[in-house]
Amino acid sequence: MFNNIRKDFPLINNHPKDKRLVYFDNAATTHKPKNVIDIIPRYYSLYNSSHHRGIYDLSVKSTNIYETSKNDIKNFINAKSSEEIIFTKNATEALNLLAYSLSKQYLKKDDEIVISIMEHHSNLVPWQQLSKKIGSKLKFLYINKDHMIPESEIKRKITNNTKVLSIVHISNGIGTLNPVKKIIEYAHSKGAIAIVDASQSIPHIPIDVQDLNADFLAFSGHKMYAPFGIGVLYGKKELLDELPPFLYGGDMIEYVYEHDTTFAKTPTKFEAGTQNIESAIGLSEAVNYLKKLDMNKINKWEMELTSYALNKLKPLDYITIYGPDDLKNRGSIISFNMDDIHPHDLSSIFNHFGICVRSGNHCTQPLMRYLKINSTVRASFSFYNTKNEIDYLIDCIREVKRRLI
Ligand code: ALA
Repeated sequence: MFNNIRKDFPLINNHPKDKRLVYFDNAATTHKPKNVIDIIPRYYSLYNSSHHRGIYDLSVKSTNIYETSKNDIKNFINAKSSEEIIFTKNATEALNLLAYSLSKQYLKKDDEIVISIMEHHSNLVPWQQLSKKIGSKLKFLYINKDHMIPESEIKRKITNNTKVLSIVHISNGIGTLNPVKKIIEYAHSKGAIAIVDASQSIPHIPIDVQDLNADFLAFSGHKMYAPFGIGVLYGKKELLDELPPFLYGGDMIEYVYEHDTTFAKTPTKFEAGTQNIESAIGLSEAVNYLKKLDMNKINKWEMELTSYALNKLKPLDYITIYGPDDLKNRGSIISFNMDDIHPHDLSSIFNHFGICVRSGNHCTQPLMRYLKINSTVRASFSFYNTKNEIDYLIDCIREVKRRLI
């Protein structure tokens, strides 16, 4: 569908033609298009200066570029205002910020926090450690044999005592696409705050925070074609206004006295210190690139690739596939295991064939334990992947089976 798209990605395009590079580790990080890569030296060559600090032209330009980037992200997720966008280091930092700030203002002993067994450690450990510290109760939504959260589980676990629901949109471990809009609606009906970890959905499906009605939503830039070191916490302004800051220091203050401080307004209150301006601009380049390609078209092609791969993998009786059977309940992530071969061995054999996949527990140890496995091999697709690459993966799997098992 995206003919010639690979020419936009220097790492793929410049790879020696006599050596294969089949990159199926897009859930870990995506490659970056040329416009994103080029903006970084351009920023340092033309605009480098500290934002929000100087009143000289260069600093004003830097501030404007930073604020324009924020506005682009606001438009991309349809937030009401760019004041609802906080730049962080990554999704992990965004979720830690929330856990910390909510614990200061909102959560107390015996309050219930609900997450799912599918959470990445970044949406599990902060809530777990917080619960240990303040005595709140951490409850898990478990999955059924189809690797989905049943409605009965949602209704059993989210109760009038639930103060926070924090849920992954697409599981990085097994690819389950959670019906977050419905879950948020249910959490709200019980009076809870609803948080979405959108790290694995934002590069693949159109996200509209107003339509989802999420109170907060977190994601990382580097998984959506942007540089490392930038992430986003979206939050409804009225909620952000009430929360205390997470980090203290420069820029996030209003007045500082020897023994007291008043804080800046949202979102500056949450952005202490000089920010990663180059990556903020890189993220804005990335979202504008994705917008041009059209998120609906991206989703259509990536799901076609996923369906194509699943249809080829399913007949192989020595392969176990994790995640829901029905394509409409999945993202473009396929986690699988092959009988009698360790996932790490399989992925290192794939490496010899020029195929990049992740193997391991995918930072979801409780999920792996729940599934009674240690690890899987994970192939995760981007719009720059092709059906030929999937055919090649399947050929390699057959070859491994013929030679080793
Ligand atoms: N969280 C990233 C992954 O799932 C790194 O691979």
